[in-house]
Amino acid sequence: MIATLLLLAALFLWYLFADCDFILLFCDKLLSRSRRKMENFRGKVVWITGASSGIGEYLAYDLAARGAKLILSARRKTELERVREACIAQCGQVEIRVLPLDISKHDTHASVVSEALEFFNHIDILINNAGRSQRALIIDTELEVDRELLETNTLGSISLTKALLPSMVQRKSGHVAVVSSTAGKLGVPVSASYAASKHALHGWFNTLRLELMAENIDVTIVCPGPVVSEGAASAITHVVGESVGSTNVDDSQKMSTARCAHLIVTAIDHQLSEAWIARNPVLFFSYVGQYCPILVSWLAKFVVPGRIAAFKAGHKDINARVSLWQTLGISKKTQ
Ligand SMILES: NC(=O)c1ccc[n+]([C@@H]2O[C@H](COP(=O)([O-])OP(=O)(O)OC[C@H]3O[C@@H](n4cnc5c(N)ncnc54)[C@H](OP(=O)(O)O)[C@@H]3O)[C@@H](O)[C@H]2O)c1
Repeated sequence: MIATLLLLAALFLWYLFADCDFILLFCDKLLSRSRRKMENFRGKVVWITGASSGIGEYLAYDLAARGAKLILSARRKTELERVREACIAQCGQVEIRVLPLDISKHDTHASVVSEALEFFNHIDILINNAGRSQRALIIDTELEVDRELLETNTLGSISLTKALLPSMVQRKSGHVAVVSSTAGKLGVPVSASYAASKHALHGWFNTLRLELMAENIDVTIVCPGPVVSEGAASAITHVVGESVGSTNVDDSQKMSTARCAHLIVTAIDHQLSEAWIARNPVLFFSYVGQYCPILVSWLAKFVVPGRIAAFKAGHKDINARVSLWQTLGISKKTQ
């Protein structure tokens, strides 16, 4: 009995420092190192949207190192070329094509998909990663901001996936991944439209998985928590056309971009339906939110009012501000 309790306590302490859900952690720590290793992506054609910075950029580096053939998409062609050059500098001969795309211009997706298919004749894996974040209180936010985030984050990924699906169904092979967020599982203060756009992805892509089971097409939804990227600076405010700009905050509580990309690739490699990628306390809140939502509402009373007050006082990136220890009330340090 005591041994079991000690084991459970040790597991709990160890998990405090984990950065993803139990199943992904198991795949990363045990399965990936022994059986599958790096070879599963060699020669596979992977199309990454939002590859010009942040998580998408590091997905490109990780997958290039594993020998995948890549198609990189986003709006900024020069940044995509930079990522392509960096992949070649790091990995030597890799086949990488740059394909500019505005994910919110849905009527262009059919022709962009035709171009993508011409590069390597097929796509094995589509990673819908392009997206935009948000920092604004609901009460201040123009409806056009809600619309823009839904058009970009939700309909953008849905539209591109729909345009590509017929070719995957015809081959009876394919894998579609989408980068949601822990904000796709929980409400998140000052990010309501963003959270709505990510929640909606779960309904659509979970249904896609069910409808395409018989067609040998996998669907993976990944939910990162705070990760170092340009996302906080390019986040939309309460007004259309306005970005937060430089946040000038300490990112040390956020997960590194490379680690996040590695875990996303691991989740895809193991064909996980859903994966949570976050440090504590966000990981802890994800579990509580999934299995005991009423407890989240209670715990939020200790955390959220302070974060909203900080936002109103001018702290632009509240995701960078709360450590596990601050959440537990052990330190009152603020940035
Ligand atoms: N960083 C985090 O803390 C975090 C947490 C959870 C989820 N996520 C999700 O991770 C994904 C990547 O974000 P990130 O954090 O890496 O931020 P980021 O560095 O700002 O990257 C966003 C990417 O999306 C592209 N993009 C934005 N709007 C686009 C559009 N209309 N058409 C095509 N591409 C567009 C951007 O490229 P262009 O500007 O060149 O078009 C860029 O490559 C997003 O879906 C985000 O919601 C991020």
